[in-house]
Amino acid sequence: MNPSREASGPTTVVRREDYAPPAFWIDTVELAFDLDPVKTRVLNKMRLRRNPDVAAQALRLDGEDLNLARVLVNGAGCSFKLDGETLVLENLPEGQDPFDLEIFTTCAPEKNTQLMGLYVSQSTFFTQCEAEGFRRITYFLDRPDVMASYTVTLRADKARYPVLLSNGNLVEQGDLPDGRHFAKWVDPHKKPCYLFALVAGQLVAREQRVVARNGREHLLQVYVRPGDMDKTEHAMNSLIASVVWDEARFGLPLDLERFMIVATSDFNMGAMENKGLNIFNTKYVLANSATATDTDFSNIESVVGHEYFHNWTGNRVTCRDWFQLSLKEGLTVFRDQEFSMDLCAEASARAVKRIEDVRVLRTAQFPEDAGPMAHPVRPDSYVEINNFYTVTVYEKGAEVVRMMQTLVGRAGFAAGMKLYFERHDGSAVTCDDFAQAMADANPSSDLARLLPQFKRWYSQAGTPLVQARGVYDAAARSYTLTLTQSCAPTPGQAHKEPFVIPVAMGLLDAQGAELPLQLAHWSQPEAGTRSFVLTEAVESFTFINLDSEPVPSLLRGFSAPVVLDFDYSDAQLLGLLAHDSDPFNRWEAGQRLALRRALNAIRADGPVERDPLDAAYLEAMHTVLRHPTLDAAFKELVLTLPSETYIAEQLDVVDPQRVHAVREAMREQLALALHDDWVWAYETHKDNGAYRPDPVSTGRRALAGMALSMLCLAAHGNGDLVWPGKAYQRFKDAGNMTDRFNALASLVGSGQPLAQDALARFHAMFRHEALVLDKWFALQAGATDRGGNVLPAVRRLLAHPDFHLRNPNRARSVIFSYCSANPGGFHRADAAGYTFWSERVIELDAINPQVAARLARALDRWKKLAEPYRSAAREAIARVAARPDLSNDVREVVTRALA
Ligand code: PHE
Ligand code: ZN
Repeated sequence: MNPSREASGPTTVVRREDYAPPAFWIDTVELAFDLDPVKTRVLNKMRLRRNPDVAAQALRLDGEDLNLARVLVNGAGCSFKLDGETLVLENLPEGQDPFDLEIFTTCAPEKNTQLMGLYVSQSTFFTQCEAEGFRRITYFLDRPDVMASYTVTLRADKARYPVLLSNGNLVEQGDLPDGRHFAKWVDPHKKPCYLFALVAGQLVAREQRVVARNGREHLLQVYVRPGDMDKTEHAMNSLIASVVWDEARFGLPLDLERFMIVATSDFNMGAMENKGLNIFNTKYVLANSATATDTDFSNIESVVGHEYFHNWTGNRVTCRDWFQLSLKEGLTVFRDQEFSMDLCAEASARAVKRIEDVRVLRTAQFPEDAGPMAHPVRPDSYVEINNFYTVTVYEKGAEVVRMMQTLVGRAGFAAGMKLYFERHDGSAVTCDDFAQAMADANPSSDLARLLPQFKRWYSQAGTPLVQARGVYDAAARSYTLTLTQSCAPTPGQAHKEPFVIPVAMGLLDAQGAELPLQLAHWSQPEAGTRSFVLTEAVESFTFINLDSEPVPSLLRGFSAPVVLDFDYSDAQLLGLLAHDSDPFNRWEAGQRLALRRALNAIRADGPVERDPLDAAYLEAMHTVLRHPTLDAAFKELVLTLPSETYIAEQLDVVDPQRVHAVREAMREQLALALHDDWVWAYETHKDNGAYRPDPVSTGRRALAGMALSMLCLAAHGNGDLVWPGKAYQRFKDAGNMTDRFNALASLVGSGQPLAQDALARFHAMFRHEALVLDKWFALQAGATDRGGNVLPAVRRLLAHPDFHLRNPNRARSVIFSYCSANPGGFHRADAAGYTFWSERVIELDAINPQVAARLARALDRWKKLAEPYRSAAREAIARVAARPDLSNDVREVVTRALA
């Protein structure tokens, strides 16, 4: 148990409105580490000065789990005390400013299972300091608005730790007595302490020198364990592409001589943007065609881009306080999304990326916004900041930035970024500062005109609902569209003011042709998509010169993060699916058709219908699948039914087993009814030649994989043995991990007897590849439940010799895949899934509170559940909440869930 955790100690709420500037500034930091897994010694020499703008007060330095040995002020002993874990210096020498403060502490990296601060992973030292991990390394003003210059000396045994890395430039290195050596690093840029990093161990690097537009040369390095060199090419290519893109699109160059990425297999999150020394979860670095899927390749591209782009949006300009987290995260997610889209050669591939991003937002963020943890993009308070690295701060934050771009245009957005850096480079600022720069750079834009109202996106939680109604007046040849916006209450926010909602739209005629748009006061019509800005609770737009009732295509490209309600007829949706020029809405029309059928079957009385889909829907899917010009990736998205989670969000009361049964019935019907089309799709898309992770061949593999899983599912229903046999053969012969894994998943997903043999083979083949084993575990824990068989399988997986609870990736692969990604297996009428969940939350909390708190959120939406699930879930949460020794992290989540 974390020794710093006090049983039932008071939990402090941190409030945004309480922000006060620091009483002291730290200008320089000299750190010297004697690295030892058992006891690492840290000497921290700082130069401080009083902040003249703040009334005189004691110096209070944050610390956590540290052993304090010595404190010197200006080289002499001084009086100090500890207030809890805070080091307090009350009698600092009068009138001496700046002054030197020297603190000597030790810590125990090997015992650090939280993976915050300095820890050991596979005999290598790593650090993780965001958000408040630096205080676990030394006493400090651990807040992002204190920016200092760092000089770091690392000393360690040379044989065990040949590579010694920290931020910035290597200025000196050499040998020391007793087989030890040292390296000294100087970071030329001031930074907040959450961007500090060190790495020490046996590592090898792929290196590449690149010359930037301005002629400056940079050294790029990707460090991994010696056996992993053959999995670094894609990460390096992604890094090079990131450097090129940020210069080309935003004029932002790399400001370092050396830029390093290091991979570790023990990491709480995806990756971390430490200045010049990014530390990554291996999952987002290591890939080759034999071990990684297309999804892995594209995630690596996004995450490498994301961390690299933080160098400007996050590091050069950082956050004043952690409430401003979306300042860097929302903006950087937006940038990585744009990066991935800009790397697509085809417009259709851009649309596919947009659909995928929106799908994440709607299946993960919308539920968060409607649940007990709902919070604004810029939260007002927190107990544990680690709980606020959320889809709201990241993905909804990115949508807010995207709406700004929509309101000021692409060029206007680039101008706003430029002004933002002119004003704020080198400082720690707020979300308001960003929005202000965008508005000021575009003084005649809607954003500037509506700025205070627009900023409600930062302050109000909850997903707005936009209800649209259309009335056609044949005599006047006009169509009046009325948009009404509302937003349900969220914790602490009963009443919401109207948002600024950009609505991109077009009108189609009955044949699906795009109609010119003309508002009554426009002198002439305009073709194509137009954006209208909704600012009132209710607003109407009247379009003229229309010969018949048009079909509106609303919220094109998902122009705002809202729920759009329009009472489309099936015929209108089928028309949009067939003809809309906006690929996002084309996909959306298909989703609406499927969702409507799912909801009808769920709400119907009696047992679940065998065939919930009608001929019109099946015909439409047949047409999409066989379409001569649509690309494969898009087809795969259209043919994929809305997830159980997304369907559940549309219901007031959720019976998860019924949702599961209905969706499975729909899948089986699609599999059987389109059997010949699936055979065609598989045969015509299965061979891509040499593996390349580009959008076109990725899309072909995705469609072939889907077809194979549908053919195995159909076989499950009709006793056919041919397709399971073909899938098994494919599993054995596949030339890349995507095809191999899809074949394996087809067998497992359809409950084929061959699945067991394939799983055993897969394990034997990849038992030395940790990231592949994660997939093996996740596939089984996430498998379609058949008569309650998944939970016993999950319990067996926990006892597997390759299962390690301490490794976050492995814990996630089994426990999260079951509790968060397998609703049909998890929500059991006998409550055994919930019991399993509470046991794991408690067990993990003693090891790693951050990971435990994420798992704790699996039951966020318990209030929506039907009985007996609802009561059983509440009891399971209450069982966790009753523990006296919970971390702040888990305590905050379960307290809010029960409130
Ligand atoms: N700042 C990291 C990112 O978004 C995420 C992170 C947060 C990593 C906290 C570790 C700890 O890129
Ligand atoms: Zn980030």
